[in-house]
Amino acid sequence: MATFSKKISKIGVYTSGGDAPGMNAAIRAVVRVGIAQKLEVFGIHSGYIGMVDNIIQPLQLRDMANVIQRGGTILKTARSTEFMKPEGRAKAAANLKAAGIDALVCIGGDGSFRGAHALWEEHQIPVVGVPGTIDNDIYGSDKTIGFDTAVNTALEAIDRIRDTAASHDRLFIVEVMGRNSGFIASHVGLAGGAEEIFTPDGLTTVEKAIDHIKEGIARGKTSSILITAEGQKPGRAYDLADSIRKKSGMDAKVSILGHQQRGGSPTAADRILASRMGAAAVDSLLKGQCDIMIGTEGERLVTVPLDLVTKTEKKTQIDLISLANLLAT
Ligand code: F6P
Repeated sequence: MATFSKKISKIGVYTSGGDAPGMNAAIRAVVRVGIAQKLEVFGIHSGYIGMVDNIIQPLQLRDMANVIQRGGTILKTARSTEFMKPEGRAKAAANLKAAGIDALVCIGGDGSFRGAHALWEEHQIPVVGVPGTIDNDIYGSDKTIGFDTAVNTALEAIDRIRDTAASHDRLFIVEVMGRNSGFIASHVGLAGGAEEIFTPDGLTTVEKAIDHIKEGIARGKTSSILITAEGQKPGRAYDLADSIRKKSGMDAKVSILGHQQRGGSPTAADRILASRMGAAAVDSLLKGQCDIMIGTEGERLVTVPLDLVTKTEKKTQIDLISLANLLAT
């Protein structure tokens, strides 16, 4: 954690990277807590692109009406290549200084936090991060904003697929998002009663999956659902289907859930998490704390240095996968 002594009167809030359900609840909390603490709050549009291109506007209490239940982000978001360069960051810092913005709340994932850390390191602009990504792959927080909603969105789809799989005695492979992580896959696999879960860390093999399916058939099972995280590139499910067909002759139907996992009205859990984290981010800035992320350890809010967050990999919860396998017998 870094500290700063300058008294803040104006703060900025932005969303960056992939959007996630609940980001609006976090923005709302930053604005309403900020104004309640006599701060002026500014919205920076489209993440770092808006910071470089100076798309910054003041936000009022009424601007936060009817946003808590909406998916996506009212401030828009983007991934900015220009901000990756020192010149781009210098331009952004100059715009923030010109607007009189003293400190920032960054709502996003580890890529966004790397940018936030650079703003503090290079331009002494205090930033506090709030983890907003459906992937739940951020070190230092048990949960990220949007994860619970994405898992429930995927689960709804998997329950529907199970209806048709059972009706046709079919094998399905369902692909979920998660970038290079397996959190969505492991959680939705356990909740969806999947027979097998493939994650990027390769705990499960095609051979193991085939054996597991055959054991099920021997016990009278007529349909099975396998879950796979997208891993390096979307479409991994088709590779798995090909491999299973070649190695076992079994036909598998493929369903890739895609970007529907990014949208939708946030669950109560995500709205509460986002509201708590947004409020805590403003409180930290008012205490002169920065270069940190607000995270969770169970129900407890914690602060974690951004440098540690961006340099540490968060491990997949293997126990969930082993339990799912055991329960799918
Ligand atoms: O990080 C969120 C996420 O949805 C990942 O799960 C996925 O791999 C990626 O973003 C998709 O990115 P894009 O929307 O740019 O295709």
